[in-house]
Amino acid sequence: MTEAREHWGSRFGFIMAAAGSAVGLGNIWKFPYVTGENGGGAFLIIYIAFVFIFGLSLVMAELVLGRTTQKNPVGAFKQLAGGAWPLVGMLGIFTGFVILSFYIVVAGWTLAYIGFMTSGQLSTADPAALGDVFGNFIGESTSPTVYAGVFMLLTAATVVGGIGKGIERVAKLLMPVLFILLLILVARAVTLPGAGAGLAFYLTPNFDAVTASTWTAAIGQAFFSLSLGMGALITYGSYMTKSHSLPASAASVVALDTGIAILAGFMILPAVFAFGFDPASGPGLAFITLPAVFASMPGGIFFGVLFFALLAVAALTSSVSLLEVVVTYLIDEWNFTRRTATASAALVCFAVGVPSALSQGAVDLFVINGTPFLDLMVAFTDFLLPLGGLFIALFVGWKMGPAAIAAATNDGKARLPFASVWIWVLRIVAPCGIIWVLLQPILS
Ligand code: TRP
Repeated sequence: MTEAREHWGSRFGFIMAAAGSAVGLGNIWKFPYVTGENGGGAFLIIYIAFVFIFGLSLVMAELVLGRTTQKNPVGAFKQLAGGAWPLVGMLGIFTGFVILSFYIVVAGWTLAYIGFMTSGQLSTADPAALGDVFGNFIGESTSPTVYAGVFMLLTAATVVGGIGKGIERVAKLLMPVLFILLLILVARAVTLPGAGAGLAFYLTPNFDAVTASTWTAAIGQAFFSLSLGMGALITYGSYMTKSHSLPASAASVVALDTGIAILAGFMILPAVFAFGFDPASGPGLAFITLPAVFASMPGGIFFGVLFFALLAVAALTSSVSLLEVVVTYLIDEWNFTRRTATASAALVCFAVGVPSALSQGAVDLFVINGTPFLDLMVAFTDFLLPLGGLFIALFVGWKMGPAAIAAATNDGKARLPFASVWIWVLRIVAPCGIIWVLLQPILS
């Protein structure tokens, strides 16, 4: 006898956990710097278009796969089709390791910044000084690695706790607090003297800044932020019961995630211009800009500590979903216990993460042709996730077809406006669109 599969306690609990997976470093760390690197407003428009064209349809497709089969990504494909399809699940497991390996590094930076906020060294709005603090820290060899390890431990500890007890409870409690804090910081950022230039950069589309890499960055960001394309939502869907309305839940998660990313842009980009930072500074952008925002507000240290702590929690609810995919797979397909599965996956992942942790100045070997290993992993992810999404779209669109509509709507009981549009997006629009975007670097 196998144990009965756990399920989410409520629809709200599911939405909070799925939004917890979606909302993380992708929204607050990655989105603003990628927007900054890609010219601002034009990127924002392309990103939002991709979320609506591919994102929503694919979120539903993944949830349908998971809920129908009650399985991990590999098991889900095995059960429905067999043949080569389970390889799509394997690709997802592989992608999970790639993402988690650099995710714990950046989350580790966040942990370190909780402490830095109280030390006084960040109490300045001087770009050079803040850049130095960040650069010196990530260029060290021990602390960034140790912080990444600590974060991996926190993730593993949460995953061992299981779905309802660990993930759901933490997510439900702290996500709303992060949201309120974000609103406070946006209010501060947009009222800074000089914020106008940042708002103009963010909201005025400049299509001259769009290059081949803009399209790949935008689709990669859409997938990354929605936790899409590697089976995380198949896994979370497998813990859903049939009584929840799937389309409504999917729409709420997409809206929450996209709304929070856009808000994060309003928090970071006006401040970037107000204080004279470079919007194209890359992965360090949030870490060098935010301290300046805190330094310019009353109670800044308090808000700063709180913010980085909540960001670490947001990152935790995301990293947990990444590890959970691998763990559920090992439990379902290889009969691992939850403990062994978690421990082994976490260990391997940490090992793969070490080159990323050491790539920011500590070890030259991990800077390949001028690009740090961590940045390479990010770019690899921007490619792997849409690739996984391509196969998921084809599978649910063509192989499942009408059965997917029946599954998404609980046999017609839940509302799904434009059900046939959804299927044709999965069949034609998403696959062609994804292929077109992924080919951009080669075509141009
Ligand atoms: N979406 C998360 C973020 O924005 C990262 C993440 C969690 C993720 N699980 C995922 C990305 C699964 C891709 C696939 O920070």
